[in-house]
Amino acid sequence: MNWKFSYAIGFHPWEDTDQEFSQSLASLLEREEEGRAPPYGRALDVGSGSAIWGIELAKRGWDVTGVELVDKALERGRERIQNAGVEMKLLKGDVTRLSETEVGTGFRLILDTGTFHDFDTDQQKGMARSIDALAAKDATVILLCWPRRIRPLIRGVSREEIEAAFTGWRITDVEPSFFKLPPPLEWVLRPDEHWYRLQRA
Ligand SMILES: C[S@@+](CC[C@H](N)C(=O)[O-])C[C@H]1O[C@@H](n2cnc3c(N)ncnc32)[C@H](O)[C@@H]1O
Repeated sequence: MNWKFSYAIGFHPWEDTDQEFSQSLASLLEREEEGRAPPYGRALDVGSGSAIWGIELAKRGWDVTGVELVDKALERGRERIQNAGVEMKLLKGDVTRLSETEVGTGFRLILDTGTFHDFDTDQQKGMARSIDALAAKDATVILLCWPRRIRPLIRGVSREEIEAAFTGWRITDVEPSFFKLPPPLEWVLRPDEHWYRLQRA
């Protein structure tokens, strides 16, 4: 996917999610927060786009940093953060080479809603290595992934590819996200996206 071009022409259907999708993410987050009180610790929003989900994390009590490569997305994110009146740090950077960005370490939660699954194998490994280096010992990684078989817009990723990239981590849960594309895309494309939850093996 050419993300820069997509934002330039205002094509960002991943932002038009519905209640069912938000609820599926909310239940995953509740699991990470269970038995604790806010602040929950550091969360990294990988490929944060317009910061929609980073803002959601911040509202829930996470100390959020978003990393995004496309200027237009960063601009939209900054505006959205300001309008939401929350604290969230946004950095320009490449999530396949996070050591080159001043993100810091100790992240308890790493959330990626739709970045990893468009990467080729080297990029997948780069992102996984980057995350491994900055994640806390008890961290959880949550990835939203299209299956490999659906490829018109997004490359897609298989469970085996996730496992091959995230060495030293194990997939603990795979759950439907109920993500639907907005019309007219939904009439021709059923992404069947799933949440993958990972923890250190
Ligand atoms: C499907 S969008 C999801 C955006 C956001 N997470 C959301 O759910 O609204 C994928 C995002 O990943 C960003 N991205 C792609 N490759 C990247 C990279 N190497 N480093 C940082 N961000 C990247 C894109 O610019 C885009 O904003």
